[in-house]
Amino acid sequence: AAPVRYEAEAATISQGAAESNHAGFSGTGFVNYANVAGGYVEFTVNAPAAGSATLALGFANGTTGNRPLNISVNGAVAARNAAFQPTGAWTTWSSVATTVTLKAGANTVRATAGAAEGGPNLDFIDV
Ligand code: GCU
Ligand code: CA
Repeated sequence: AAPVRYEAEAATISQGAAESNHAGFSGTGFVNYANVAGGYVEFTVNAPAAGSATLALGFANGTTGNRPLNISVNGAVAARNAAFQPTGAWTTWSSVATTVTLKAGANTVRATAGAAEGGPNLDFIDV
């Protein structure tokens, strides 16, 4: 099936803010993680059936360093310190894919900043 898009600016945000000052995002903006470890964006993702699913996280990283995120699903770590490498500019957007296991129905997917610089600017996840 075609992926379903969940916009970061519509998700639950802790230690970050929905912003729109760097063009090229989808929806109405993106999440700017605060520059601390532990900030997160939490999505409620619906799966028609239990099984493995690909999450594609849209992001920009206008710095020269990695901005790792820890991805958890229903409270369990699915990907530790997934790399979100520089994209060259805050207006240049890319995506990183990770495979996770979902249960049927609603799942909680949380993307937590793994380092003191905070996460990248996060645009969406496609599931
Ligand atoms: C800049 C940029 C933000 C970004 C931040 C960061 O302030 O405008 O969008 O989130 O750098 O380094 O995290
Ligand atoms: Ca930031």
